[in-house]
Amino acid sequence: MNPQDSIAQESAADITVDVPGPEKRAVSTPGKDEQRLLFRGSRRTCRLMGVGIQSIGAYLPDRIVTNSELETQYGFEPGWIERRTGIQQRRYAADDEGTSDLAVKAARQAITKAGVNKADIDLLLVATFTPDFTCPSTACLVQEKLGLDAPAVDLQAACSGFMYALATGAQYVATGNSKLALVIGADINSRIVKPGDQGVAPLFGDAAGAALLTAGTSEQGLVCYQLGADGAGSSMLDRPVGGTSRPMTAELIAAGQHYLKMDGRNVFKWAIQVVTETIDLVLKKADVDVSDVKLFVLHQANIRIIDHAMKVLGIPPEKVFNNLQLVGNTSAASIPVALNEAYDQGKIESGDLVLMCGFGAGLTWGTGLFRW
Ligand SMILES: CC(C)(COP(=O)(O)OP(=O)(O)OC[C@H]1O[C@@H](n2cnc3c(N)ncnc32)[C@H](O)[C@@H]1OP(=O)(O)O)[C@@H](O)C(=O)NCCC(=O)NCCS
Repeated sequence: MNPQDSIAQESAADITVDVPGPEKRAVSTPGKDEQRLLFRGSRRTCRLMGVGIQSIGAYLPDRIVTNSELETQYGFEPGWIERRTGIQQRRYAADDEGTSDLAVKAARQAITKAGVNKADIDLLLVATFTPDFTCPSTACLVQEKLGLDAPAVDLQAACSGFMYALATGAQYVATGNSKLALVIGADINSRIVKPGDQGVAPLFGDAAGAALLTAGTSEQGLVCYQLGADGAGSSMLDRPVGGTSRPMTAELIAAGQHYLKMDGRNVFKWAIQVVTETIDLVLKKADVDVSDVKLFVLHQANIRIIDHAMKVLGIPPEKVFNNLQLVGNTSAASIPVALNEAYDQGKIESGDLVLMCGFGAGLTWGTGLFRW
């Protein structure tokens, strides 16, 4: 079968799902913030079949950093981190590890598990918002370290990065323009958080996850997916300094402006909206019921965001895979690291429907219902 036959992209006009309009969306404080909190995503979804995930790999750095270590070191309120997020510990990369090093280790595991020849990898995508360098791309460093003969490029969609990279890699595979695509999500968040910032630092950890994509049957692939962006919320989660708009200066660094800055409360409120609405949309567009989905793997940001989605969408706990308790929010690595663990535990098998949902800075989100 020509893989092209299985690609169908739907226009906004095709969509009949009733997603609540902005007027129904709860926002607690009127005014400027209210505008930023509205879920402004379109209702477009896409479908891309004929793609298989051949293997998954992951890498977590050795160093475990517990909540009590951070509470003691920085004077954080005891118990606050776990109570507000569910996170108990996270991993920090060693001083001599860069994001590309984590990515390479995850990729090697995926390559070994698949039993493929790395010479057959013909596309490399790295999702990261903590690159080794601003230039060149982390993907080029990974390409060189793995010794691949493949085009290599970074994608930056923060914590949605893996979903963007997965959907991008899948296009190449579905069209036949890639036979074996290596898609990686990797981040070293411990390098960009302000260590003593209780509302940000303890939430994040470091990790990498990798997936090898290859042609699948016409039943396999992204049964329905949605990628979204809303730059109106860009300042809710950003690193204000270090790019071309505001280059780094000694004064700005001294003021801590180069660290990740997050309006946690408003990001939380946005996240609980976007997660439930995008998952609901994708399921309805695919004409799939929650009971048909084997596993839900959501971005591991905060257990309360995930619990909220489960409650609103009626997802039973046994269908949700979480590991944030032990790894925290690892941004672009979050979903592939969780997928890897779930797969290794036998929770995902060929033919299963797996719902993945990433969300984060940009603002961005990406939801995919994947038939394994
Ligand atoms: C940083 C953080 C832990 C701080 O927690 P906190 O100070 O206890 O604040 P909360 O998360 O409880 O509350 C945030 C807001 O959401 C509201 N909220 C909480 N649960 C809610 C729910 N189920 N439905 C609607 N609103 C809810 C709260 O009332 C609060 O609004 P208010 O300030 O108007 O009262 C938390 O805000 C957070 O996790 N934010 C998102 C972080 C994140 O996921 N970032 C990465 C995205 S990739």
